[in-house]
Amino acid sequence: MLARIAWTVSAVYILINILMIRWASQRPPFHFNDDEAHFNATLAKILKPRYHGSLGHAQVRRFLAQELKKLGFMVVQNKFREGVNFTNVVAYWNPGVEHVIMLSCHYDTETPRLKNKTYWGATDGAVPCAILLNVAKTMGEYLKNDLSLRMDVGLALVFFDGHKPLLTDPENEVRLIGSRHFVEVDFIPLENIILAINLNLIGLANESYFSYHNDTADLHFKISDLEQELWESKQLTGGPVLFHKLQHYNKDQPDDDYPFHEQGVPVLHISPEINPKIHHTTADIKENLHWPTIRNMIKILRKFLYDYLRSQEFDSPHRGEAMFMYQDEGENILFY
Ligand SMILES: *[C@@H]1O[C@H](CO)[C@@H](O)[C@H](O)[C@H]1NC(C)=O
Ligand SMILES: *[C@@H]1O[C@H](CO)[C@@H](O)[C@H](O)[C@H]1NC(C)=O
Ligand SMILES: *[C@@H]1O[C@H](CO)[C@@H](O)[C@H](O)[C@H]1NC(C)=O
Ligand SMILES: *[C@@H]1O[C@H](CO)[C@@H](O)[C@H](O)[C@H]1NC(C)=O
Ligand SMILES: *[C@@H]1O[C@H](CO)[C@@H](O)[C@H](O)[C@H]1NC(C)=O
Repeated sequence: MLARIAWTVSAVYILINILMIRWASQRPPFHFNDDEAHFNATLAKILKPRYHGSLGHAQVRRFLAQELKKLGFMVVQNKFREGVNFTNVVAYWNPGVEHVIMLSCHYDTETPRLKNKTYWGATDGAVPCAILLNVAKTMGEYLKNDLSLRMDVGLALVFFDGHKPLLTDPENEVRLIGSRHFVEVDFIPLENIILAINLNLIGLANESYFSYHNDTADLHFKISDLEQELWESKQLTGGPVLFHKLQHYNKDQPDDDYPFHEQGVPVLHISPEINPKIHHTTADIKENLHWPTIRNMIKILRKFLYDYLRSQEFDSPHRGEAMFMYQDEGENILFY
């Protein structure tokens, strides 16, 4: 009698498991809708002179924190001092998980050395940061209904400060103060970052994206294939092919991906192969942006991120203490 009950219980248990697995695997993939009105509104909030210490800089920092909070992220403003105060804005989805995919951009602009110059940095920070926010917004249903249930992997969106030189620095010095600080203090333990994706200088016509790091060439090629599929299914329109199966190592200008790469974190640097002519000029403005490139980039990145998250599965998932509780002299302001 007992054996029979045990057998029945086991059979039911196995059956339920099979059904659960089948249900999970048959769940239709998420379909994402674009929200260009959101992108435009977001870009309008970021696309202003926002050099270190300016009013625009503080406004953009506040906007990023508010918007990320609204999208459902846990937001921390990491304020630290290196001569002057800097603030990285860090947003978590699934804080405390062991494996993190990090997406980043920088939000500061060039400080004008002549009073009559205005730097907007449309491609140089504004569009990349607006793309990150828009990808997060348009993936919202997936993040809330699917990624939230996972205990093994999460996202970190990081908006670096201190990318550009201050007036006291040599004019063309690459500072990367925000990203270097983030790496130095292990703000997110580097071994937990399974992939760091850094965006910069996106949004002009005729841009080509190459692989700049040999250890992630396979992922770059995957994006290229995925872009091809999106072209074939007519989901992309009006622009050139962005991702090419070409490699360019020893790119001379280090970017915010560099401090992570130096420490062995796998990084994808999503930035055109040749710096645009308008780079570091007052012509890096909204009027020179190429909208098909921006629209296509959003679709490609969203699909890549979705596929990548779904392809990652880790053993013994658990959520530990939130990762931002590290100690340094800086101040971490949890944003409510
Ligand atoms: C977003 O802005 C671009 C450039 O100004 C414009 O062409 C496009 O129609 C706008 N999209 C929406 C949905 O308002
Ligand atoms: C820099 O941060 C410190 C510590 O939070 C603060 O006391 C100081 O007023 C800040 N300086 C500026 C210029 O904001
Ligand atoms: C800006 O000021 C500098 C020096 O005062 C001058 O040489 C330059 O022509 C000015 N540029 C513009 C666009 O007014
Ligand atoms: C893009 O490239 C095409 C072909 O080389 C050229 O005709 C066009 O002027 C370029 N557009 C820009 C904005 O550079
Ligand atoms: C890239 O990696 C491959 C295999 O991992 C290796 O054979 C090749 O030499 C590397 N290329 C460069 C330029 O480092």
